Amino acid sequence: MTKLIKNGTVVSATGRHAAEVLVDGTTIVALLQPGSDTALAAESGAEEIIDATGKYVIPGGIDSHTHMELPFGGTAASDTFETGSRAAAWGGTTTIIDFAVQTYGQNVRDSLEAWFAKAEGECAVDYGFHMILGDINEASLKEMDTLVGEGISSFKLFMAYPGVFYSDDGQILRAMQVAANNGSLISMHAENGIAIDVLAEQAASRGDTGPVFHGLSRPSLLEGEATFRAIQLALVAGAPVYFVHLSSSEALEAVAAAKDKGHNVFAETCPQYLYLNLEDHLGAPGFAGAGYVCSAPLRTKHHSHQTDLWKGLRTNDLSIVATDHCPFCMKDQKDLGVDDFRAIPNGIGGVEHRMDLIYQGVVMGEMTLERWVETCSTTPARMFGIYPQKGVIAPGSDADIVLYDPQATSTISVETHHMNMDYSAYEGIEIAGKVDTVMSKGKVIISDNAYHGRKGDGSYLKRGLSTYLH
Ligand code: URP
Ligand code: ZN
Ligand code: ZN
Repeated sequence: MTKLIKNGTVVSATGRHAAEVLVDGTTIVALLQPGSDTALAAESGAEEIIDATGKYVIPGGIDSHTHMELPFGGTAASDTFETGSRAAAWGGTTTIIDFAVQTYGQNVRDSLEAWFAKAEGECAVDYGFHMILGDINEASLKEMDTLVGEGISSFKLFMAYPGVFYSDDGQILRAMQVAANNGSLISMHAENGIAIDVLAEQAASRGDTGPVFHGLSRPSLLEGEATFRAIQLALVAGAPVYFVHLSSSEALEAVAAAKDKGHNVFAETCPQYLYLNLEDHLGAPGFAGAGYVCSAPLRTKHHSHQTDLWKGLRTNDLSIVATDHCPFCMKDQKDLGVDDFRAIPNGIGGVEHRMDLIYQGVVMGEMTLERWVETCSTTPARMFGIYPQKGVIAPGSDADIVLYDPQATSTISVETHHMNMDYSAYEGIEIAGKVDTVMSKGKVIISDNAYHGRKGDGSYLKRGLSTYLH
């Protein structure tokens, strides 16, 4: 079945122009000059015309950091692969890269198989996996090579959460040495977890047990320190490094300094760090702040963190915006920590809102339209080895296409979102612009404010190596 998207403005990471996009089956087959379309489309036998008048035609969003069903603190993230990937589609995201998890004492292979089983046949959009290594030993180091061959070409390590996911500097160095050798990418959760645990314990013993003390016991200096340390370890190993959920000026400074020296150091930030803060959200009255507990934590508004992050996105010191989508409901999940912030499961859901929230950066003049596409789609595809299958509107690429209406508006709310959460961290934020139509591999799965897809539409993406390194 062929489809022709007409009258829209095609936006890529490098420019925008009026063009018609011809799709055959699951694939984009041509970009046509407006005007030449009718004859060519007739020749090619386009069976369906999609009118994109007044809309931007962009490559589907790629959220390279999600945690569907992640077990955490005695519960599990509330979105399944089915509900979370469908919410992603509603928000114009047509690819997710989730994290399979090896925890301490588990074997990497068994852990990965468990994640394949959770996702298979469930997803609305295509999905890939990173592998979290929570127990670095001889066997898991060896497994890294095998996994690269199977499309898992990035590995997340934690400098936080001692006793859960934590790796010490020696383990990190060893994993980085393997990555340097096999071409994979190490993703880092950079917070000094040993120091944080001391501060958290001291806060709790003083009786400071509310959600805001989660943030206050994770100072940005300890993100900056861990980021700097991880960069030194990466340089010693000769490996690239990618920082996930970067939240603070201190961490950004360490990344920018390394990039200025020409090192292969990359970072993402997330919408929560651009829009939410410690005082108004994590410090909200009563227990409401629990809805904003995530790590790295939201930062104080009495500092230039948010301004610096927007600037970092413009200068490419920050390459990607991902969500770190890790939703928990307030009821029966976040409230596990009602007496002690240390028991609040860490995470915020937002997979549905990333494209809209970062588009507000365009509206506010923080970034260009092209940079929006680059940070939310093209760079994630390149960074994580799925370009040009994904991340670009070009002949031969998957027909993952979003029609974005800059004239429409909406308001984010728990009443209207599609994530499996009983609150929204972004409640009440007004959005200029709206996802109008979403096509995943040639199939229209969102249009006219309705979902037309099915679970199992999405398939597993076997990823290659990052094209930023090779
Ligand atoms: O709070 C967060 N970020 N939860 C998800 C796990 C992680 O560290 O990414
Ligand atoms: Zn993390
Ligand atoms: Zn995460």
